[in-house]
Amino acid sequence: RPLLDPLPPVPAFLASVGFSIFAFLFTIYLVPALGPAFIKARLSGRDLLKTYDTPIPESLGLVCASVYILLLILFIPFAFSDVFVNDYENRSQHGLVITEFPHQKLAVFLSSLLSLLIATILGFLDDVFDIRWRHKLPVPIIATIPLLIVYYAERGNTNVVVPLPLRPLFGTLINLGPLYYLYMSLLSTFCTNSINILAGINGAETSQALVIAVSLIVNDLLYLPWPFGFRIPLHLLGGHAEFNVGGPWSAGMAYGSRELVERHLLSLYFMLPLVGVCAGFLYHNWYPARAFPGDTFCYVTGMAFAVVGIQAHFSKTLLLFFLPQIFNFILSCPQLFGLVPCPRHRVPRFDKETGLLYPSKARFEKKLASPLANLILRVFSALHLVQLSTDQETGQLETTNLTILNVFLVTLGPMKEDTLVKTLISTQVAGSVFAFAIRYGLAWLLYDG
Ligand code: UD1
Ligand code: MG
Repeated sequence: RPLLDPLPPVPAFLASVGFSIFAFLFTIYLVPALGPAFIKARLSGRDLLKTYDTPIPESLGLVCASVYILLLILFIPFAFSDVFVNDYENRSQHGLVITEFPHQKLAVFLSSLLSLLIATILGFLDDVFDIRWRHKLPVPIIATIPLLIVYYAERGNTNVVVPLPLRPLFGTLINLGPLYYLYMSLLSTFCTNSINILAGINGAETSQALVIAVSLIVNDLLYLPWPFGFRIPLHLLGGHAEFNVGGPWSAGMAYGSRELVERHLLSLYFMLPLVGVCAGFLYHNWYPARAFPGDTFCYVTGMAFAVVGIQAHFSKTLLLFFLPQIFNFILSCPQLFGLVPCPRHRVPRFDKETGLLYPSKARFEKKLASPLANLILRVFSALHLVQLSTDQETGQLETTNLTILNVFLVTLGPMKEDTLVKTLISTQVAGSVFAFAIRYGLAWLLYDG
């Protein structure tokens, strides 16, 4: 008996592709159609980096989330199409139904949808009420509890493989146990907020989500037992192994696990429609934006990534696709944790005369910079991540805001908004290429096999 069916459940896979085309079409149609209703409901914002004052409908992430979640719900029966087929065959051959229904898989689906719904509610409330940091941070953590219980029910792995140089100290595997669950719940807070704080120029949030989702799809496709196969010779990258894609050598097959294929299929079912939604929305959010995603969009897409990372058991690979967000988060920490003043908006400064964007600044207005803040800013300045200056009149210290967008402007010079967003997209794509190289090419440096 073959270890795996030769193909993924084809009807479900094709249905998912079809649903993502619908997701694209619905989003591209609904966003401009519903925009005026959002403006009427006072869900609009001024584009900070333009000369005009026209209100731009905001929180259209709510439309994206609704399309996404409703399509995922409609997809549930398709995900179980093989069960229906088996039931039908059993009934016609044996006169009774003997297939075991995969309740586990249904639990995975339902808990994922629950987390996405909580993210939508939180994001929308944040758009309407501008919730404070300390109040909104715990919510995604609570939203992951259903996912974590499912992970536990599946006896999910809580071990981490120790890199080769540290093995004499710790051995090959460390079981993190409950700490691993803590890490996974923090992952959800990170994914939801890290896209939201890398924002403020047209197309930023949407394109980040799009690139990450496409990267995850490419990664999932590597694990499917395709009827044809090819090998990536990793020794070209310096590795001593080959990574096998598809065919009898597919990665899923090589690890001898049908489960692995199932998990990556699940990730595909959640990522394909997300790509449709993001691509459709990007059309309206691209410079000059006719619609803003709002926090709802950032929370839902972020939660979707956390969901697949946890449910498909690849949370560490997932983080590799968040390199620009991790960089931006670490850079932002002094502002987020109050060491350096954090203005309401950290978006670059728009100069009306030249039409270019310049780094925006944060000023130590009332209090002096603490020695720690001073030290951090000097180090950042030495690394060319910020530009420090002193206010001519008051003599107080000024720094450019601690965001990756400002870093681009500090290092590459002033540029137009669409050039800046293209720079961000290129960085995100380069980050994904690097992530693949690390994951499949260079892992041997740290780990054997
Ligand atoms: C986060 C950032 C904030 C940034 C803001 C921009 C942190 C801690 N917070 O705050 O620094 O200024 O996102 O989204 O890093 N806007 C534009 N052009 C765009 C997108 C948004 O001008 O392409 C403006 C609009 O006025 C819009 C507002 O940003 O109304 C939305 O800001 P919001 O998402 O509420 O800000 P936060 O997520 O709280
Ligand atoms: Mg926001």
